[in-house]
Amino acid sequence: MGRLQEKVAVITGASSGIGRAIAIGFATEGARIVCSDIQSDARPEGYDADTQRETAEVITAQGGQACFVQADVTKGHEVEAVIRQAVERFGQLDIMVNNAGVFTRLAPIHEKTEEEYDFTMGVNAKGVWNGCQQAIRQFLKQGDGGKIVNIVSIAGVIGLPEEPAYCASKAAAANLTRQLAVDYGPHGINVNAICPNFLTTAMTRPFHENQDIKSTVEALTPLGRWGTIPDMVGPVIFLASSEADYVTGSLLMVDGGFTAK
Ligand SMILES: NC(=O)c1ccc[n+]([C@@H]2O[C@H](COP(=O)([O-])OP(=O)(O)OC[C@H]3O[C@@H](n4cnc5c(N)ncnc54)[C@H](O)[C@@H]3O)[C@@H](O)[C@H]2O)c1
Repeated sequence: MGRLQEKVAVITGASSGIGRAIAIGFATEGARIVCSDIQSDARPEGYDADTQRETAEVITAQGGQACFVQADVTKGHEVEAVIRQAVERFGQLDIMVNNAGVFTRLAPIHEKTEEEYDFTMGVNAKGVWNGCQQAIRQFLKQGDGGKIVNIVSIAGVIGLPEEPAYCASKAAAANLTRQLAVDYGPHGINVNAICPNFLTTAMTRPFHENQDIKSTVEALTPLGRWGTIPDMVGPVIFLASSEADYVTGSLLMVDGGFTAK
């Protein structure tokens, strides 16, 4: 019996990286998965295994239940359609993981464009808003609570050099997590987040391949290494499971101690 047995989970940004690993990890714990993403294929710049198969195909090949629904998280009506299809396909919604995110480039604010700000806030802040809003509407309709896990970042709680839009967007998602925990605790809806440090995905390949940045991150991390995708999956399963029934409004640092100093 898995820790998420028979639960129905929607995961955004599920085609690559952290979202892909969460989807596969949830399925291993018995959940039925709606993999949502703006594109069905994994990002080619990433480090994912088995990328010739979409995430939902990997899960079904392993005996799990999953489907793919394309959606852009910046569009509320598209996210609404994802939730609707999850309910049509699997009968309910139990878990929403708002994972889709973007990063543009390192630059201080005086060199950033308005387009970069709008794009970053659109996906990382409004996308989480849309996912929370649509999931909560469904949870309230069902009347039996639910779990939301937002994939934030250490950039949501500290300032990282030359990441002004990313930090602003992640801080918005972090405090939305706390705010929603306040409003929806009385409805049995838990809203939490994990805050990862740097880990190797398509998003951070340029950092990982830059020896200066790579070793600076290692030096600033008490555990002495970058995070890995598997490092993220266990904490998200915990927050999505009944083991976390009394945890809400929490930002779980999964950062090797980066923000502890
Ligand atoms: N990689 C890291 O070091 C790191 C650290 C902290 C937080 N995070 C966060 O983790 C999450 C996952 O990042 P990742 O590293 O796996 O990145 P990734 O680029 O490998 O995967 C992101 C996924 O989101 C999808 N996506 C992008 N825009 C979308 C949109 N508008 N609608 C729907 N899907 C969209 C992409 O297609 C991709 O599949 C992000 O929110 C990111 O900010 C990553």
